[in-house]
Amino acid sequence: MEWWKQTSIYQIYPWSFQDSNGDGIGDLKGILKRLDEIQELGVETIWFSPFYQSPGEDFGYDIADYTKIDPRFGTMEDCDRLIKEIHKRKMKVVLDMVMNHTSDKHPWFLESKSSVTNPKREFYIWKKGRKKPPNNWISMVGKSGWNYDQTTDEYYYSNFLSFQPDLNYRNPKVKLAMFGVLDFWLKKGVDGFRLDIFNSIYKDESFQDNPFSLRFFPTPDNHDEAFFQKKQYNLNLPESFSFAKEVRKHITKYKHKPFLIGEVSGSDQVLKSFLGEKADGLNLVFQFELIHFQFQAKFFKQLLLKNETIFPSPYTPTYVLGNHDQRRYIDRIGGDRNKAKLLVCFQFLVRGVPIIYYGEEIGRGEGRISNFKGKDPIAKMNRFVPLFLSNLLGIYINRDNCRLPMLWDDSPNAGFTIGTSWLPLGTFQKEDTVAFQKKDPESLWNHYRVMFQIRKEWQTIREGSLDTIEMESDDVLCFARKYKDTILHVYLNFGNSREKIRIPNKTKLIYAFGGSILSGSFLELPSLSGMILQVMGSKPSRE
Ligand code: GLC
Repeated sequence: MEWWKQTSIYQIYPWSFQDSNGDGIGDLKGILKRLDEIQELGVETIWFSPFYQSPGEDFGYDIADYTKIDPRFGTMEDCDRLIKEIHKRKMKVVLDMVMNHTSDKHPWFLESKSSVTNPKREFYIWKKGRKKPPNNWISMVGKSGWNYDQTTDEYYYSNFLSFQPDLNYRNPKVKLAMFGVLDFWLKKGVDGFRLDIFNSIYKDESFQDNPFSLRFFPTPDNHDEAFFQKKQYNLNLPESFSFAKEVRKHITKYKHKPFLIGEVSGSDQVLKSFLGEKADGLNLVFQFELIHFQFQAKFFKQLLLKNETIFPSPYTPTYVLGNHDQRRYIDRIGGDRNKAKLLVCFQFLVRGVPIIYYGEEIGRGEGRISNFKGKDPIAKMNRFVPLFLSNLLGIYINRDNCRLPMLWDDSPNAGFTIGTSWLPLGTFQKEDTVAFQKKDPESLWNHYRVMFQIRKEWQTIREGSLDTIEMESDDVLCFARKYKDTILHVYLNFGNSREKIRIPNKTKLIYAFGGSILSGSFLELPSLSGMILQVMGSKPSRE
């Protein structure tokens, strides 16, 4: 089975991971310093949010040069060393690739906007507007995607913020240029790309108005209908599905088997279209169902049943609890690390690729920075919305709050910087730091470490099939993983009461947490506990 189907992905947000020069911003040398610790945790593939040259208005998702390192983060030499050192430790590197748009400070855009006859004009999407935007298309941030530019009296299109003009993929020169960028990094040995808002890459040529929809709020897994619009003509176009295959074909030339993971959103059918009918599109897509989980066994069971039906092998589902755009999951469970242990067990042991956001391994908490004080451009746009109101409506506005610096130890600024941190560290205790949790065998950090280990040790987890098993109690989730003759059972008690469960006669304990006890052919599962068993010589059966 291909390596990327078996891996796990750990996301580093470079701004907040580790500062090495005291400027209060994380950097590549800082990450290098922490590589041994990342390896000790068990990380397999590291995805870096962008560190290319950028004005930083969207913290790197506005790129001004795709083949230069932003001086905030270091030099190309640091980057080469980082890639080498990661590989030396048998880990893989995934870079964030923002193909959809550049910064408006990118030389291509500066040229493009200078005149209608500039050779770079067609690198972007320009239209005349007769004193109003050319059509009703709303961007992903909820305002018109059209931006008026005085120089040539035309509008350019941006599906995110106005300083992020969308590239025009109907121009073969744009494709060529972007494939050149991919090649630049693939030749340096990077093992894959995370493709930013890939669902937005093509826009309909007809430029027709989008139809009306009743929905206002977008969700992480559905931007297709939002802000009272069905985004029929500016998101998820068939051309984007075909382009996924084109990019896949392009990178397949590389012997080290790099892969693509797309940030797309929409129905399962849309996700599947990005993956390709013959699984020949993007290798993986982010699946965001866990961003709004209900802490109930039946929620997780249904998710498994759905994914096994709609994305059976050779498709590989992904399980995402958080990222740099979403409220941290620990906050969604009131900081309860026992609950976190169950979620992680689920995320790591089902069939698929778990995606972990830095700090999740220590239960790093959310910030409480108001929208008004936010550095995040989305917060700046909505600065007058009070934090309690956005929380109440369940919309995440100030992404600074999930991007707070990593908590390493009990030195000043939790070991993140000796300077003034670019974002405050928020409230925390020494029990929250990596250094402390490493020493405590019961800590969340150690639980994550075990999960990484189990994935590495058991081919059954990496490659096996998955079946859910019917339980008498609605509070217990049980699933079986099977590969050749090996069967593993995972039991998780999401409920408030102690459960006694009959299990197959011959079993071997692999891992127990939360006070679960194995006694003969019974398993005692206190509230919020779990157990992993190897079932010896029997098939998964209904208990
Ligand atoms: C993606 C990124 C987000 C960024 C946006 C524009 O959604 O995850 O952080 O602001 O795209 O590039």
